[in-house]
Amino acid sequence: MSNDRTHKTIEQAEAEGKYIRKVRSYVKREGRLTKGQARALDTLWDTMGLDHSNGMLDMANLFGNDNPITLEIGFGMGKSLVAMAKAAPERNFIGIEVHRPGVGACLALAEAEGVTNLKVFEHDAIEILADCVPKQSIDTVQLFFPDPWHKARHHKRRIVKPEFIESVRQSLKIGGVFHMATDWENYAECMLDDMRQAEHFENMSATQDYVPRPDNRPLTKFENRGQKLGHGVWDLQFKRIS
Ligand SMILES: C[S@@+](CC[C@H](N)C(=O)[O-])C[C@H]1O[C@@H](n2cnc3c(N)ncnc32)[C@H](O)[C@@H]1O
Repeated sequence: MSNDRTHKTIEQAEAEGKYIRKVRSYVKREGRLTKGQARALDTLWDTMGLDHSNGMLDMANLFGNDNPITLEIGFGMGKSLVAMAKAAPERNFIGIEVHRPGVGACLALAEAEGVTNLKVFEHDAIEILADCVPKQSIDTVQLFFPDPWHKARHHKRRIVKPEFIESVRQSLKIGGVFHMATDWENYAECMLDDMRQAEHFENMSATQDYVPRPDNRPLTKFENRGQKLGHGVWDLQFKRIS
């Protein structure tokens, strides 16, 4: 199956020394697939799955139209991504997630909701940005509730760091938007610091820090959990200006 191929490709690439990055932003939890997730991966991958091993995406032919593209990194179980795709049929959506049950759940939900403007990778987003996303091809990159890695000794695992921001910038069209949300205040502050230092972006916040929660962002699973724990939420939106 295509996903086994994808995994083999990462291992082969690592064996060949292609990726020397040792610190990853996730720990691969194999987790069992439910029957529904397994069935969705089997039956829907050919139409909705994207493989790292196929290299650069051909954006002109990917969705059969030239609608604007939103790329979501770390969509979890895909609930909010599918809701966004359903609510915006005039856009195309590409999701990236490493957690296989989440990818299966997302595909199953997309099918149940009749969503056809969505395709997904089951792979590390860092490698997808580098190997599969053409420069200046994306209108919005969204990163909602990335793993906070709250212990200081784990901060190096946080996905948001200068190299990642530069990679996101390269994928965005000029005028494209990078939207982040987190319920972890220290992570929000670090995101803001890193984005302020990144050149070629303009903060879309009227107060030059955070933006009000945008209406088009559905409540995500992690946000819901955070709210129950009394956490705040910080949204950041930056526009690529050059
Ligand atoms: C805390 S969860 C949030 C999920 C979802 N966005 C939400 O708000 O419910 C973070 C997700 O990011 C995924 N993730 C972490 N690093 C990743 C990477 N480098 N590439 C793709 N997915 C990644 C994890 O597997 C996890 O599902």
